[in-house]
Parts: sequence; structure tokens; C-alpha cells
Amino acid sequence: MLKLNLDHVLMDVEWEKYQPRVSELHHQLLSKTGKGNDYLGWLDWPYEYDKQEFERIKKAAIKIREQAQVLLVCGIGGSYLGSKAAVEMINGHFKQDSLELIFVGNTFSSTEIVRVLDYIQDKEVAINVISKSGSTTETAIAFRIFRQFVEEKYGIEESINRIYVTTDKERGLLRPLVKERGYESFIIPDDIGGRFSVITAVGLLPIAAAGINIDKMMKGFVDGRNEFSKENITENPAYQYALMRRLLQEQGKDVELFVTYESHLSFISEWLKQLDGESEGKEGKGLFPASVTNSTDLHSMGQFVQEGTKLLFETVITTKNPLADMKFPVDATNADGMSYLENKSLHWVNQQAMLGTLEAHTVEGNVPNILIELEDNSAYTFGYMVYFFFMALAMTAYYLDVNPFDQPGVEVYKKNMFKRLGKE
Ligand code: PA5
Repeated sequence: MLKLNLDHVLMDVEWEKYQPRVSELHHQLLSKTGKGNDYLGWLDWPYEYDKQEFERIKKAAIKIREQAQVLLVCGIGGSYLGSKAAVEMINGHFKQDSLELIFVGNTFSSTEIVRVLDYIQDKEVAINVISKSGSTTETAIAFRIFRQFVEEKYGIEESINRIYVTTDKERGLLRPLVKERGYESFIIPDDIGGRFSVITAVGLLPIAAAGINIDKMMKGFVDGRNEFSKENITENPAYQYALMRRLLQEQGKDVELFVTYESHLSFISEWLKQLDGESEGKEGKGLFPASVTNSTDLHSMGQFVQEGTKLLFETVITTKNPLADMKFPVDATNADGMSYLENKSLHWVNQQAMLGTLEAHTVEGNVPNILIELEDNSAYTFGYMVYFFFMALAMTAYYLDVNPFDQPGVEVYKKNMFKRLGKE
């Protein structure tokens, strides 16, 4: 389902040498005695998730698909990146579906908010507002605006039927509203932080509403959790990837550049940038996660990767079996000089671009490359991949000796912003 290839990292590793430290951290993680251990609910979630709520999510998804043409998914950070990544990976950008998902509440852009309002004027609309705290400003602004739109369009009673709330069990600011109005609601567990929450209703409701089979995704979570929890580093690709990130940073590679060759996978990189950047970027430590989407970015950032400052390594995420493919057509005139590709599959062409770039960047550019090959872009593979990156992130951050599960740094700008906005 997922293959890790470390043949192009430009170093040899004696895994056994690192096993004692990896074992120590592995036990801290699984026995929940390490840093941030009150946010490890994601570890056993594939076994312990709320089965009744899971069934309710599926029913709500069917209802949304029946009642709406547009589902506004209102959330930011961990409350939207994972579901957007999943929907784009599994459905692609241009799936013809009766329901369109629009992700709102992740920006202060007046243009974007007003344009969405214009766009949905004559459409049937439902809202899934997602916020653990309920107080996140971008999300709260958008929710008030779109809630009022739905209330005015349908009246209060019917609006209640079209608003779905995913939030904290007790404390979140959205809870009183849920109680007062009686919105259908779903719970973000206390011990699962935002960037790990794609496995909960946060991710699953929008994903199911997009017509994706979340039973298969849950199976992927379970199998990934089992596969990537092995203590022995030689048997655990997630731990090998985790260690490799640290070894590359020790060699001065401070930037991890996530690379995809399919534009519908580029939000996987966005999700990973949050998962990694927010988890390990603290105490003056951590890799800076960045991303490109090739081959388009080979025509811009490719120059820097090939010949620029040697500060990065690449983590290339590819797909063995794409969502769709076709053969390059025959044209007897060959006026465009492209006939050398006749009858070749477009995916094969993409793979040759990837292999040619790999050779250029590693052999001539001296840029280490980690390869992660996904079997396909299915719901199951998405679930399996999620646990590869979760387990790797936990190990790599523990190896760095930081708490991966908090984000104290994000409060600083908020303090300044609230002062300017006049918030008490
Ligand atoms: O990972 C995190 O905890 C954050 O990115 C949050 O998901 C993000 O800030 C949104 O928070 P909330 O769900 O409380 O609106």
C-alpha cells in the first residue's frame, strides 16, 4: 500500500546502531509516558473510536447529499487540511458529483468570503462547522456570516436541519449554541489535537459527504496503525523515515521539500506541512517543511533545487496506479513533433519525468531524496498513509526531544491581532 525507498538519500545507515534510542522512544510513545502524553488519543483511535457516532456520520453524510448542492466546510488548520487533502486525493479535482464541497472559515479574505456568498445565492446549502475551541476567529467570522445566510434563506427551523457542528465535547464555545438550537453535533475528543483529527468526525463527515467510503478508510487507519507500530526499526518504514529526517538535518539539511507529481495530491503536502511544522518547529529546532508540485514547479523552483543553496532534501510522494490514465493519441502528420510518444500512457510519461528529475537532483545536484510510493489513491491507502506519517512524526519529534502535540508559538500573533481588533 505504501513503499518507502531510501536508495537515494546519499548516505548509508546502520539501523541497528540507532535501535536502543528508537526502542526507548517507541516505549515512551506506546506506553504514553513521553512528552505531550495527554494528546495521544489518536494512537488507539482506530480500535477505540465511537462506533455509534461513526454510523451517525454516515447517516448525516447521506442526508447532506440529499439536501444540498454545496456543503460549506467551515474550519481552519487541523479542522480542514486533512479532509481537503483526502477528498482531493481520492476524488481528484474534477469529479462530477451532486455535492460540491467549499472550504471556508480558513481565511480573513473579504474577497473570498463575499465571492462564496455570491456563488451560493441560488444553491441548496448545508454547513459543517468544525472547531475544537469554537473560538478560532477565521472560522467564527465565516460561521456567523454563512449561518445567517442559511437562516435567512430557509428560516430558523430548516436552518437547524442544515447545520452540522463538530466540536469539543463540553468546553468549546460552539457547545452552548448546539444545546440552544439543537444542531446535530459530533465530538472532537479531548486527547486528539487538531492536526491529528482527520481520523475523527473532523475529517470523516466532510469525507463521507463527498461520497467516499469511510469504512475502507477506517480499515486503512487500523492496518497502518498495526504496520507502523513495530519496535524494530528494520521492520518499520515509518521509523526509518523518522530517523532519516533527523540524520539529514544533522547534515545541515534544514528544509524538507515535499514533492508530488499530481496536482490533486498537493494538499497532502499542505496537510503534512501543518502536521510536521506545527509539531516539531519549537525551541529553535525542527525541519522547515515546504512543498512543490511537479512538473509545473520544475519550471520555477526546479532551478533552486538543482543548483541553489544546499539546505534541503526532498520527500517525493508518488502513486503507482493513478486515478485515471490514457494513451497519447496518434497524429499521422506529426506536425507537433510529438509522435515519439504515441500510444505511451500519460502516467508513464509522468513517471519518466519523476525518474529523470530524481537522477538530476541526486546525482548532479547532490540533493538527498526520500521516495514514498502509494499503491493508489483510494480511501484505504489514504487511511494507511495517515498512520505512516503520524507514527513517523511522533518518533521524529521525540528523537528531537520536543513535545509534538502542543503549539504555544501560534498564540503570539493572535495576542497582537486581538489587541488591534479590540477584543477584550
Ligand atoms: O493543530 C491544531 O491544533 C490547530 O491547527 C487547530 O486545528 C486550528 O488552530 C483550529 O483550531 P480549532 O479547531 O479550535 O478551531
